[in-house]
Amino acid sequence: MPGAQEEDQTAHEGHSERKILQTEVSAVRTEEAPFHAGEVCVGALRRIYDRRGRGNAENAVKKAIAQLGDHEQKDPVSRAFVADSVLGVVVRWLTLHFVLVTLLTSVAQSEAAAGALSREGNGLSAADVGVLNGFQRPGEGKAYEGLTAEGRDFLVRALLLIYWDTFMPAHLRGCCGPKSRDGQAAFLDGRSAEDESRRALAEAIVDAQRQMCTDQLLAGQPLWVRSSLPEWLVSKWESEYGTETAEMVAMASCQRGTTTLRVNSLKTTREAFLASLRERNVNASPTKTSPYGVTLEARRPRGVSLRELGGWHSGDFELQDEGSQLIACACRQLDGPQAATSPLIIDLCAGRGGKTLALAAMYPSGRIYAYDTDHTRLDDIEWRLPRSHASSCVSVVRDGQQLAALKGKADIVLVDAPCSSLGALRRHPGLRWQLNQTETTLPALQTAILLGARDYVRPGGLLVYATCALSRHENDHVAAVMDRQSGFAPCPCPLLTSAINAGELCGEVGRSGHCTLFPSGGGGTDGFFVARWTREDTGVAEM
Ligand SMILES: C[S@@+](CC[C@H](N)C(=O)[O-])C[C@H]1O[C@@H](n2cnc3c(N)ncnc32)[C@H](O)[C@@H]1O
Repeated sequence: MPGAQEEDQTAHEGHSERKILQTEVSAVRTEEAPFHAGEVCVGALRRIYDRRGRGNAENAVKKAIAQLGDHEQKDPVSRAFVADSVLGVVVRWLTLHFVLVTLLTSVAQSEAAAGALSREGNGLSAADVGVLNGFQRPGEGKAYEGLTAEGRDFLVRALLLIYWDTFMPAHLRGCCGPKSRDGQAAFLDGRSAEDESRRALAEAIVDAQRQMCTDQLLAGQPLWVRSSLPEWLVSKWESEYGTETAEMVAMASCQRGTTTLRVNSLKTTREAFLASLRERNVNASPTKTSPYGVTLEARRPRGVSLRELGGWHSGDFELQDEGSQLIACACRQLDGPQAATSPLIIDLCAGRGGKTLALAAMYPSGRIYAYDTDHTRLDDIEWRLPRSHASSCVSVVRDGQQLAALKGKADIVLVDAPCSSLGALRRHPGLRWQLNQTETTLPALQTAILLGARDYVRPGGLLVYATCALSRHENDHVAAVMDRQSGFAPCPCPLLTSAINAGELCGEVGRSGHCTLFPSGGGGTDGFFVARWTREDTGVAEM
């Protein structure tokens, strides 16, 4: 059974599939043919919109693909087209809406189309036009309140059209979607051509879009419009990390993430794995900092999905961002006389086991206790362990009381804390719809878990705190509380600090040596924060 993490990431794969050449398109559509894939996208976006982004956008894509006809389902272009369209609109919603408002304004001002917006029977009520022009923001509860069903239909069609024309990867744009003015107007109209008034509005908008250069239009806009993120979040990043970093992080957050794998050293070596990829004509390169990572080139040969790569079923690799791999690497224990050959490790927020499995590969003769308050996530570890050949060194702990016996004994304790996950926005397109400015409870929870974790660390042992948040409140401020605790000393991770200082990783090293990794373009990691402390003792030295 695949776990949710793989499911999500496999869906994301569909989003990032750029491999298909136009010549491979088996079904060449004409403007006259019913544009079924487009209608499927409209349905998926309507459902996502109606639920105000709640639920999983990747699952919505899977359902949408299941609605394609038999022929289209087998066609990788159609599947990639639907996945890219739906997720692309979800990610770019605010940017696309900004363009739509500009189009509506230009239609209202154009002499030729002056009447189109207000014409009786065009399917949009005056209230619809007002709401659309109001440019309210999704994710704030009252987004688009008052929009009629007609208005919602028009909205997602318009956003799709703008997305196809502006942001969709060229290889998909060129082979799917309506291209002619009439085809685009018919799609935007969405109803039978008998309704001339609505068609006139659709044509006016398509004409306006054809005359507009979206790049130029967006160039002067504020970062939150260009990155399609809430204004408060962009302002927060600007004040916490500076304008340059905020620009980089926000723009990287609307790009597709690289596909990075962690080679399971319990099963194979990175070199052997890379050789097996070469045999399948899959281009890949080793990650710069993680010794276990392999980044796949975006374009892969046709039909080579992750599950079809050799070794998926036998656990030779896991899909894992390099930053996430590096959190496990940051748990490498300190060298010295007290370094344990078979360390006792507690993964206190093990979730579905991403770091647990990486730790098991690093310490096959160790004893790892994986605990989480969410038992459904622990269920996923249970089935992942045997596939990764890691069952013998990992114990899944469901009752926190059982950890009591480990107090003061652990060589390494990892707190991969629950967090806002803003560093992984590009992996979870729907997440930006759920952002909540008023959420303030996380730092207290994170601090409580971290302070509780101290008790398990043996003298000379290592405590590691990590998040995939990009918020000083969840990262530096929580770590600062720990910095002030007696008996523990900050202990920077040499692998991370040297890679950041050398410019190999995009990030910053804080005053106590704690590290923040920033998402950046061009194959960078997701955003992460890592802080480490040793429980004070004598005779330990860094490896
Ligand atoms: C960032 S996720 C962990 C991801 C996981 N380490 C991985 O690599 O796949 C944070 C986890 O903390 C768990 N959690 C929340 N509150 C907790 C608590 N009080 N004690 C332990 N785990 C908790 C959540 O259920 C969630 O699975």
